[in-house]
Amino acid sequence: MREAIARAEVGDEQYGEDPTVLELERRAAAFLGHEAAVFLPTASMANQIAVRILTQPGDELLAEENAHVLINEQGGPAVFSGLVMRGLPGRHGTFAPEQVDGAVRDWSSGHMPRTRLISIENTHNSSGGRTWSLAQIDAMVETARRHDLRLHLDGARLVNAAVALGVTPAEIGRRFDAVTLCLSKGLGCPLGALVAGSKELMVAARRGKHLFGGAMRQAGIVAAAGVYALDHHVDRIADDHARARRLAEGWAAAGLPVDPSQTETNFVHIDVAPLGLTMPEAVARAEAAGVGISDTVHPTILRAVTHLDISDEDVERAIEIVPDALGAGARVGA
Ligand SMILES: Cc1ncc(COP(=O)(O)O)c(C=O)c1O
Repeated sequence: MREAIARAEVGDEQYGEDPTVLELERRAAAFLGHEAAVFLPTASMANQIAVRILTQPGDELLAEENAHVLINEQGGPAVFSGLVMRGLPGRHGTFAPEQVDGAVRDWSSGHMPRTRLISIENTHNSSGGRTWSLAQIDAMVETARRHDLRLHLDGARLVNAAVALGVTPAEIGRRFDAVTLCLSKGLGCPLGALVAGSKELMVAARRGKHLFGGAMRQAGIVAAAGVYALDHHVDRIADDHARARRLAEGWAAAGLPVDPSQTETNFVHIDVAPLGLTMPEAVARAEAAGVGISDTVHPTILRAVTHLDISDEDVERAIEIVPDALGAGARVGA
């Protein structure tokens, strides 16, 4: 990837003159099942632009209550797009068509905001990298269309979802009006993201990119990493999933409060409450033992992530180290 970056042909991206950015956008559009795509610095910006171009100020956005776009982007849909943000209680990051049926407002009287956009997250970060199945997506698409709602997919980890479901990213992405893809997560790029949609919508996205200060200059330097990742880092995501499963099983066998059946993709959740630890204590103990594990939005849940810098040996080491570091030994056989 470093070599691809070094060799990148570049030009002025703001003027549509960077050949590597154009190549990445063309490739990403097909990869995501759409006519066009726009290269951006981050997936947060991709989400914010998608939300903005699919709504009008005063509209209402529905998403799962712990969705990244609702709780991790500083209220961006309210700030940048003037939206009412409404979180629906989720189950493993998903919500049901009936919840949408019950939430859509009757705006005909002139009092209420117009419910206009559904955003779903696949995989869903805060629920532990859980997927929406194609059947769940199809049911949500049908519901959205019945209510004349638009659909955004926060597919920051769409490749993980596609690999777990055994379908192409395009097969999922084409069902939505707009799709976000992050390049700096499982795809292993230093930075970058894309938003995809129809040609017409992407004209609006490109304006949004400039408005948000995301229009760059010789951005081919980073887009080259994205092209490389689409060629070399997609199939290997299955290895991350296998390693996460091995980690979950190893930790559960060693007495850590981990449910391996919850690991569908590349995350493992550990509930530290039964260990009598607070989250900061547990994070600090793991770190002191040499294993980086992060906190989550859930007060007692830690998250471990496998990615292209984590090898089989790293996983075996973590299986050895972390249960001791978190004092799980006493629980074995309990
Ligand atoms: C589901 C989801 N969407 C969007 C983002 C934002 O990504 P970025 O850090 O590129 O802004 C993240 C980051 O963790 C995420 O988990």
